[in-house]
Amino acid sequence: TRPLLIDTDPGCDDALALALALEDPTLEVVGLTTVHGNTTVEATTHNARALLEVLGRTDVPIAAGADRPLLADLETAEHIHGEGGIRGELPEPTSETELEGVHAARRIVEAARRHEGELALAAIGPLTNVALALALEPRLPELLDDLLVMGGAAFVPGNVTPLAEANFHSDPEAARRVVRDAEPTVVGLDVTRRATLPADWINSLSREIPLARSLRAWLTYYDEDVLERYGMETAAIHDALVIAGLVDGRVLETEPHHMEVGTDSELDRGALVCDPYGVTGGGPNGRVAVDADIDRYRELMTETVDGLI
Ligand code: BDR
Ligand code: CA
Repeated sequence: TRPLLIDTDPGCDDALALALALEDPTLEVVGLTTVHGNTTVEATTHNARALLEVLGRTDVPIAAGADRPLLADLETAEHIHGEGGIRGELPEPTSETELEGVHAARRIVEAARRHEGELALAAIGPLTNVALALALEPRLPELLDDLLVMGGAAFVPGNVTPLAEANFHSDPEAARRVVRDAEPTVVGLDVTRRATLPADWINSLSREIPLARSLRAWLTYYDEDVLERYGMETAAIHDALVIAGLVDGRVLETEPHHMEVGTDSELDRGALVCDPYGVTGGGPNGRVAVDADIDRYRELMTETVDGLI
């Protein structure tokens, strides 16, 4: 099995990403770290604990992290993910999911050292914790086997501003630091906006137990007006595509690119800027997902959800 640490801000699509990771026999989730993002870090941590309880995985340790971006003001997305940052019916966390008394950034560094050369880190929220981990341990990229980041919109419009995707826009300075120095594989809206599940399959999930109702709520977390805005039929489960890429190496097609993140103006804050023609003279500093096998992604997601209910 492959050790995996997930930095997350649950979040409806985060919840489905966690379900996929925790159910997959080839991945060993060695921990969760939480960050501000879809809601406050208090609430994302609460949600992460509740998710481990409902998924029967209270053995997975959680460390809470940054409660705000490095420099920007806190920006949350309850209007997308629901009150408390997540939809569905989650239990109150119990003492089974006590927090580790260590900051997420330290936890990331510790895990990278403990599993040197083997750990995959999936960052599916704003990049504050990862940027702080990089400040604590500049060798982080060498220690990690893989750093996958859900964020950015390389060659397509953003979902928060015309240029910026939510995770990068929430903490542009952190995203810039990670993109410059951590050699990430960036999985952005270019591919994740296609990570939907068919409406008829979602509608067929008719079991009336709390977990089934929650899964349905997470799979349908876009309100009508959001669906209309994006011209979509069902919600994009962005974060789960990153995990699917780890489960099956053929899901994501990536290319090496020189990348930068805008931080300077209202217009460019959080924008992922790629340089496919090499006009800046900068060599590749990471990889960008340019295509995805959505059929395979759907197979993995439907198997996971069917297995849970
Ligand atoms: C990203 O932003 C969050 O709202 C989602 O959980 C996902 O990580 C998509 O832009
Ligand atoms: Ca997320």
